[in-house]
Amino acid sequence: MAYTSDPTVIDARSSSQQHKGALRFIICGSAGSGKRTLTGRLPYQSKMLFEGQLAILDTAEKKETQGVDSTLLVEELVADHEQIDAAWRLFSADVALVLIDASKGMLTQSRQHSHLISQLGIRKVILAINKMDLVDYSEIVFQRIVDDYRGFARQIGLEHITAIPLSALHGDNITAPGNHMPWYHGATLTGCLEAMEIDISRGDVISVANAPASVADQFESTIIWMHDAPMLPGRPYLLRAGTQTVAATITDIKYQVNAGSSEHLAAKNLENNAVGVCNISVNRPVTFKPYNDNRDMGGFILLDRVSNHTVGMGLLHFALRRAQNIHMQHVDVDKAARAVGKEQKPCMLWFTGLSGSGKSTIANLVEKRLHAMGCHTYLLDGDNVRHGLNKDLGFTEADRVENIRRVAEVGKLMVDAGLIVLAAFISPFRSERRLARELLEEGEFFEIFVDVPLSIAEERDPKGLYRKARSGALKNFTGIDSPYEAPQTPEILLDTASMSPDQAAELVVAAIEHKMGRSGGSIHPPHSTVGGSGD
Ligand code: ADX
Repeated sequence: MAYTSDPTVIDARSSSQQHKGALRFIICGSAGSGKRTLTGRLPYQSKMLFEGQLAILDTAEKKETQGVDSTLLVEELVADHEQIDAAWRLFSADVALVLIDASKGMLTQSRQHSHLISQLGIRKVILAINKMDLVDYSEIVFQRIVDDYRGFARQIGLEHITAIPLSALHGDNITAPGNHMPWYHGATLTGCLEAMEIDISRGDVISVANAPASVADQFESTIIWMHDAPMLPGRPYLLRAGTQTVAATITDIKYQVNAGSSEHLAAKNLENNAVGVCNISVNRPVTFKPYNDNRDMGGFILLDRVSNHTVGMGLLHFALRRAQNIHMQHVDVDKAARAVGKEQKPCMLWFTGLSGSGKSTIANLVEKRLHAMGCHTYLLDGDNVRHGLNKDLGFTEADRVENIRRVAEVGKLMVDAGLIVLAAFISPFRSERRLARELLEEGEFFEIFVDVPLSIAEERDPKGLYRKARSGALKNFTGIDSPYEAPQTPEILLDTASMSPDQAAELVVAAIEHKMGRSGGSIHPPHSTVGGSGD
């Protein structure tokens, strides 16, 4: 929790409340009941305050008449006090603080305000009996006003009422009890607000105003890698900071720190035990503090997304400024609109398999068939994309991860454009195929495993690359000295050792039609399996 120094607006949020918007409360009080003194007191006196925005419902004497229409009342109040957006705040307030002058007791205005509170659907009321100093801090006076108010409140449906005797002038029961009212054993005002207002749940963060926690989705951090499989930029991991778990990728290794000399080295990945300073991006904002300021809120661990094993740990430095300055721009013509225009359901057909398995050939035939059916398509093919967008990338693990990350992002844009996208890449790693899947919506991603035994792919060797790899002239060749992680539950499995490319293409089109609901036919042909939810 934190507050601004502006006494009329108290605004901060916990991680869970971000999604709900700021928590709001209003203060209602008749003229002279001490609203300003109280609000002046709150931020300055309390070290930790509640979250939310404060609107002050104020009433000039001239409006102290019975039966004022409550809507009008709000508008007039707004005009009177130039709190242009105050009316809107009222509609979303969660708690109302009804301030009553102890020396005057309940006035018509207190009733009007309470009516309004009830109509606005605010159910929680703090009844603050102020100016107790003017009635000699009398418990009897306090109790009488409370009884009056409760009786009235019951009639209008306000039931959740907490009464507190206050002296805003002297500070009694604002943040500390003071010593004038030993007969009162209840909460102080700030204690009560904290308890009522704030719906604290596991993972929420409370911070003091002069050292607030930050919320961001891109950071610089030190990462200590602790796994045999190296950390690769672009690969999806899970980041766990306290109770928060989010999907994370390292977007950039700024440098690796040489353990012996502390010098900075350029690095493309981090091997086991390596320490690097990296930029990291997460899919949802996390609340954090720099590790140097707060170990609990600045430290995190990284987990493998497939095995869930801890693979690294990290220390957050600071949020990247771009994280604060780049927002998603709303566009009116969206995927659905474009899809309607094209009369098709956009999707991604992701062909994965060894070099020589037949991915490109089959994808090409599938595209021809879809095109002939009037579908709007685009084929992204590994060899082609590596001549343009990805011509800076080779075949190290790190480069393959980046290759697939870029293709997945481009594919997502194309699906968003309303197209049926075909992607034919070896895409040897489960993590990145999963990343591609997760960029899309449920039901839009079809993993098509073009399966062939290595020996047959090697026999085919259409580009002579297996021969080169076996001779040692080509390094990091998939299946030879670079791994291929076969899909475990692809949507479509094609055994290309026992079917022609044309047969395979036909199966894919039929399967997609079936899955997308364009025809009712069932397809479970002998050499293909149609199933799953991917790796
Ligand atoms: S991926 O592994 O990063 O997904 P991608 O599908 O883009 O690979 O590119 C694979 C194509 O690059 C192969 O079809 C082959 O023609 C060519 N290639 C060149 N060197 C290699 C290599 N070391 N491993 C695999 N394919 C290679």
